[in-house]
Amino acid sequence: MKYPCPSNLNIWWNMGSMLFVTLAIQILSGIMLSMNYTADGNLATESMSYILRDANYGWALRSTHMAGASLFFALIYIHVGRGVYYGSYMKLPHVWYSGVTLYLLSMGVGFLGYVLPWGVMSYWGLTVITNMMTVFPGGARALEWFQGGFTISTFTLKRVFVLHFLLPFVILGMSVAHVLLLHNNGSSNPLGLDTTELVVPFHPYYTSKDLVGFVFMLAGLAALAFTFPKITADPLQWQTINKMKTPAVIKPEWYFLYAYAILRSVPHKAGGLALMFAAILGIALLPTLGKYAKTQSMVMSPLGEALFFIWVANFMFLGIIGSQEPAGAWILAGQVGTFVHLFCMLSIPAANAKWEKMLFNGYGRWIQI
Ligand code: HEM
Repeated sequence: MKYPCPSNLNIWWNMGSMLFVTLAIQILSGIMLSMNYTADGNLATESMSYILRDANYGWALRSTHMAGASLFFALIYIHVGRGVYYGSYMKLPHVWYSGVTLYLLSMGVGFLGYVLPWGVMSYWGLTVITNMMTVFPGGARALEWFQGGFTISTFTLKRVFVLHFLLPFVILGMSVAHVLLLHNNGSSNPLGLDTTELVVPFHPYYTSKDLVGFVFMLAGLAALAFTFPKITADPLQWQTINKMKTPAVIKPEWYFLYAYAILRSVPHKAGGLALMFAAILGIALLPTLGKYAKTQSMVMSPLGEALFFIWVANFMFLGIIGSQEPAGAWILAGQVGTFVHLFCMLSIPAANAKWEKMLFNGYGRWIQI
C-alpha cells in the first residue's frame, strides 16, 4: 500500500506484473493438462489427442497453455527490451542478474515443454539440442545419463516431463526473489533520473494501472488461444516420430529462432554453441559495461537509441533466418545477423558514454540536472 514508486512509470513497466499473471496461468493450466497427459513414448501423442477431443475443456486448456507460452516469451522480450532501453540494469544490477537467471530457466522450460507432444519436431529438436552436450569433456556420458540410454526413448520423455513440471516452481520462487530485490531500491523510471522527491504510493496508482494491463493481456491471450490456436503450431508435430528420417528443416518455436539462427551461423558445433551462449548471456555483461556511462535512459542518448532499434530489428531478422533452411545466402545473412546482434548489444552502454562526451566535451565538468 505504501510502497513508493516514481510517478512517471509508463506502460513498459506493466510487463513484470503481466509476466506474473501469465506464469500463474501456465502453472495452473499445466497442472490440469498433466492430469490427462501420459509421458510414455507410445502414448504421449494419443494422450494429446485425448486432451483435445475428449477431456472436458481439454482443448481450451491446451490452447491456453500453448498461447500462454508464446505470450510469456513475448512479455519477457519486451521486459528485457525495456530494461535495455531505459538502462534499468545500471540502477538495479542485482535485479538484472536475477532476471537473466529467470530467462535461462524459462528457456529451459519452454524447450522441454515442446518435447512433450512427442511429434517429429519434438524428437529432432531434442536430438539437435541435447547433442550439443557432446562438445564438452565427458558430455557423451552426461548425454547418455540424461537420455536414460544410448538413444532418445520413453525414459528421456519421462525425465523431460518431470523437469518441465518442476522447473516452473523454481521460476516462481526466483520471480519472488526478483521482485524482493527490486523492492530494496525501488523501480527506475523512463527518464533515468532521481525521482525520490516525486513518488506516489503503489496503491491505487499502479494497482489500477496493472489491472488495465491484465485486461488487455487476457484479451490478447484469449484471442490467440481461441481464435488462432494453431498460429504458432508446427504441423510436423502431428506426425509420428520416424527416427530414420530427418525433416528437411528442423526449427524451434518462434521465441528461440534468433538463438537458433546464431547457433547455425558457423559450421562448427562448439563455435556455434559458444556464439549462441554469448548472444544469450551477453545481456549479463550490461551492468558491468554500463559503469562507464552516466546516462541511463536512451531518451537522453540518441546514439544508444539508434543502436537499440537496430538491435531490435536485427533480432526479428534473425528470427526469419532461424526458420529457413541453412543454405546459400541464408548462411551469410546469419553471420551478419550474429555480428550485428553482439555488436549492438554490447556497445549500447559505450554509445551512451560516447554521447555524453560529445555533449559535454569542453565544459570540463558534468552539468548537474
Ligand atoms: C519470469 C520472468 C520475470 C518476471 C515474473 C518478472 C517480474 C518483474 C516485476 C513484477 C517487476 C516490477 C514491474 C516492472 O518493472 O515491470 C520487474 C522488474 C524488473 N525486471 Fe523482471 N521479471 C522477469 C524476468 C526478467 C528478465 C528476464 C529480466 C532481465 C534480464 C528482468 C529484469 C528486470 C528489471 C531490471 C526490473 C526493474 C526495472 C526498473 O524498475 O527499471 N526481469 N520484473
